[in-house]
Amino acid sequence: MPPTLLRLEGNACSAVLELSAGGTAVWRHLGSRLDALDLLAAWPGSELLSMPQGGMDAPSLARLAPGHGNGLAQDGLLRAHRDGLDAIHDWSVESWSQPSPDSLSVQLGDLCAGLGLRIELRLDAATDVLRVEAELHNRGDTELQVDRLAGASIALPDELTEVSCPHGEWANEFQWERRAVGADGWSRENRRGRSSHQAPPGLFVLGAHSCEHQGPAIGVQLAWSGNHRFALERHEDGRLLLQAGEWFAPGEIRLAPGARLRVPALYLALGQAGIGSAARGLHALARREVLRWPGGKRRPRPVHLNTWEALYFRHDEAELRDLASRAAELGVERFVLDDGWFEGRNDDRAALGDWWPDPRKYPHGLRGLAEHVRSLGMEFGLWVEPEMVNPDSRLYREHPQWALGDARREPVFGRHQLVLDLARPEVSQYLFDKLDALLRDTPISYLKWDMNRDLAQALDAHGRPGMHAQVLALYALLERLRDAHPRVEIESCASGGARADLGILRHTQRLWTSDNNDASSRIAIQSGALRLFPPELLGSHVGPAPAHATGRSQSIDLRCAVACFGHMGVEADVRAMSTDERDRLRGWITLYKQWRETIHDGDIDQGHSASGACWWLASTPQRHFLCVFQPEAMPGPQSAALRLPRLRGSGRWRVHLLGRAGQLRQRAEQQSRWLQALAGPGVLADGHELAQCGLPLPALHPEAALVFGLERA
Ligand code: GLA
Repeated sequence: MPPTLLRLEGNACSAVLELSAGGTAVWRHLGSRLDALDLLAAWPGSELLSMPQGGMDAPSLARLAPGHGNGLAQDGLLRAHRDGLDAIHDWSVESWSQPSPDSLSVQLGDLCAGLGLRIELRLDAATDVLRVEAELHNRGDTELQVDRLAGASIALPDELTEVSCPHGEWANEFQWERRAVGADGWSRENRRGRSSHQAPPGLFVLGAHSCEHQGPAIGVQLAWSGNHRFALERHEDGRLLLQAGEWFAPGEIRLAPGARLRVPALYLALGQAGIGSAARGLHALARREVLRWPGGKRRPRPVHLNTWEALYFRHDEAELRDLASRAAELGVERFVLDDGWFEGRNDDRAALGDWWPDPRKYPHGLRGLAEHVRSLGMEFGLWVEPEMVNPDSRLYREHPQWALGDARREPVFGRHQLVLDLARPEVSQYLFDKLDALLRDTPISYLKWDMNRDLAQALDAHGRPGMHAQVLALYALLERLRDAHPRVEIESCASGGARADLGILRHTQRLWTSDNNDASSRIAIQSGALRLFPPELLGSHVGPAPAHATGRSQSIDLRCAVACFGHMGVEADVRAMSTDERDRLRGWITLYKQWRETIHDGDIDQGHSASGACWWLASTPQRHFLCVFQPEAMPGPQSAALRLPRLRGSGRWRVHLLGRAGQLRQRAEQQSRWLQALAGPGVLADGHELAQCGLPLPALHPEAALVFGLERA
């Protein structure tokens, strides 16, 4: 039987696989949309293959499901054995179905090893995102020990030769690093037990000349909040083969006879017009497929006041009420009470686990404060860190065995805390009961769900690694809470942005981008985060000056200009601000409210001008919102005009200067006519002009910002 060609049709992209019953599933194409398949249909992959001298007699096609130990060079999806037996795997296609033109399900099996593998592919026409899901089935009658499993091997278009991935640390998240992938390939493992600051589960694969606005690019994300592994291998024909899946600790996964193991969903946003186009694919994916908003629809993202950098552990109810009242006067819409409210929590050494209000700080519980907040027209939100326990807590004293760890070793602490074993039903039940009681007793509409350490020695009650089970138990707990309290929104925080991924976003609606509220640092951090996530998910707060994370000070206007291109909030004691600062903050909050639907519904572009200005653009059919920052000194005396490729052919726009921060580098009298026009009646500009000639900018000093609105003329 000749092989069958199956194609998945996206909008601008196609994927083509060649399947042979009893044989293999092979990649023939992934990339731009194909109108016809003359060549691919007439010439099966195996007929075109050279069998080079000195090689094995096995045809080395780019398989969807490469095996292991079968004579082929391609790395196998699965590393597994049964006490050392059945370690060779060679998948053959048992059946397939194409329930719709955009999806394909392939059932593979290995009779000798007693294994089944189902791979599901879907190329979404609305987003040009390819979703890959897979499930391994132990069909044998003995336990299977799984060391590694990826969902599929994806043969990438051969013009993609470079990888760019996010790195970082606390207060410096989402820093991207790009490199060419050589003949040795490339791989990255995250073994920290949470998505991590250092290696969050996303990357881009790029053409050598691909840049922000041009060239092929694929944005990749694995929907998982724990350990993972990404690998790029150079196939014999030069293409890069991508594999992604969880990283398992030794002995972690043992599949009983009949049991199944799912691989976290892998998403590939196929971009044709630069890194930005692939990033927009990932944004659209998050918006359309991943997020589940309370009530089924996103409401305007309310302006937050978070108490952390305002008061830290100093919880005094009268002071908090005062802070809330002052926040409401500025236009804040949600007041989030951060760490320090529960019994015995006076610093970060004690009390995690004891999730009830501290009677000394809140003699009548949290309800009074929450009702005060609500009487001011704001929502009330609360910080929790349910997965953790301090040894100095009632919970730990009563249930020391509930913490993950190796009883024979000294415990490894992070921020003086241990991790609870959520996979123990009694632990999840305890946490559910405590959170459920809080949500019932107090009108809380928002939880900031924190997670402030890596997992280490994460051994369960039987002494076995429990990281995989921990993530699944976390998702189940979040789901149970959502079911019980469907109107409550949840933010994912982990020492800033150490748990930002599509897995957690299935259960939450906001990411705390970074504990670094320094506006200059934030420009790079938020630019980096915008590669993976749309702005409405990225918490961005106006912090105090000097910034607590860096000791640097920036003007209130710069802090606001940076914060408004995200989910805006304030994280400072607004009572300590001058009247002028408060007035300006109020003005920026008003501006954010006027433009948030554009920012949060818009297609996002970003870039740099030739004189080092960084810009973010949110575009809807009728309006654009544009932020321009000059982080460092300009290289010369003149600003380069800001070219906005997205606006090419988009019609005519009236450009308004909505806000600005910092100093201009030129004499005031010279700039006045241009700036007065922008700040006053606005300036008319054609989309082609804005794309090709660019928007003229005044010369800017470092830490200056200009914020523009463009409305269809
Ligand atoms: C973490 C979070 C902060 C804050 C503190 C409270 O560091 O990232 O935003 O909530 O915990 O302890």
